[in-house]
Amino acid sequence: MSTEPVTVVARRVLDDRGDGAVRLGAGRAHGKAILLGEHAVVYGAPALAVPVPQLTAVAKARRVGGDGPDEISFAIAGLESPEVTSLPTDGLQHLVTEFRQRAAVTEPMRVDVLVDCAIPQGRGLGSSAACARAAVLALADAFDRRLDAGTVFDLVQTSENVAHGRASGIDALATGATAPLIFRNGVGRELPVAMAGSARLSDPAGFDAVLVIADSGVSGSTRDAVELLRGAFERSPRTRDEFVSRVTRLTEAAAHDLLQGRVADFGARLTENHRLLRDVGVSTDRIDRMVDAAVAAGSPGAKISGGGLGGCMIALAGDRRESAAVVRGVRQAGAVRTWVVPMGRFAGHDD
Ligand code: MEV
Repeated sequence: MSTEPVTVVARRVLDDRGDGAVRLGAGRAHGKAILLGEHAVVYGAPALAVPVPQLTAVAKARRVGGDGPDEISFAIAGLESPEVTSLPTDGLQHLVTEFRQRAAVTEPMRVDVLVDCAIPQGRGLGSSAACARAAVLALADAFDRRLDAGTVFDLVQTSENVAHGRASGIDALATGATAPLIFRNGVGRELPVAMAGSARLSDPAGFDAVLVIADSGVSGSTRDAVELLRGAFERSPRTRDEFVSRVTRLTEAAAHDLLQGRVADFGARLTENHRLLRDVGVSTDRIDRMVDAAVAAGSPGAKISGGGLGGCMIALAGDRRESAAVVRGVRQAGAVRTWVVPMGRFAGHDD
């Protein structure tokens, strides 16, 4: 499932020296891309995000019975390198403590969790939240707990707040969503966006476009980007207020465009949101070049996506031919890999 070289971090498999009972649990999550509203969402603006179903995080928990102190180990496989910033292990360890409380686990927690993460790290694609979500679901399965959606969200947020510093919660939600969602102040709502040509969905027109995601090949730390803006906004509350209110207007209008199938208007708002993010300092020269290249290749709109300071950009493309031209353009401008993602609902994970 992961196409990247497997790196195992701090792997330690428990000996089955207890009462012999071994219980396995599994959990899955996927990547996400923010369409509009990143950073402003931390200050109360709405944000739009789409799930990226082809980038998966799959966790397996192996729980060993018997008495004795807690013994918990995590391994993350499929990461490009253990040195990449914001390795979510600290967050995951924190998450286990919270899991014990929220799931009312009274028995010893003797468990190995292996997360196979095909989502590249530091690219704004939600790898830390997806790893945490997959781990929570695998732990719940291994300990035979049924957690409601709110509890899963809270647990993922516990880990995200360690990984990102101050997480809005959009990644925690979008990595489990099955449709585009709008998120504000901790509350998310999936939007009934039909993919054009989808017979299962009621809106026959749909949103007639796909999303090209392009990796700049440079890792960016969301924590650093959030910190950078926090400092800048503390020095200039007026800059913060203007940024947040402009992004709010753009995102609200873009949500209507998405629901009405207005691809050109939606694209223009993406590019405008890119300018605002560039002006507050979270874009990079390479990403600016990739955005320009996408628009020059015929994309209705493009922008940086996620925390920034590197990472990915996104570009709308009307059809397969246009997406091929956009992919060629962004690759010539420096993208090291690309994904083409549907904009509508997809089937979710069962576990
Ligand atoms: C990260 O994917 C999105 C940010 O807005 C941070 C957050 O919302 O937690 C940069």
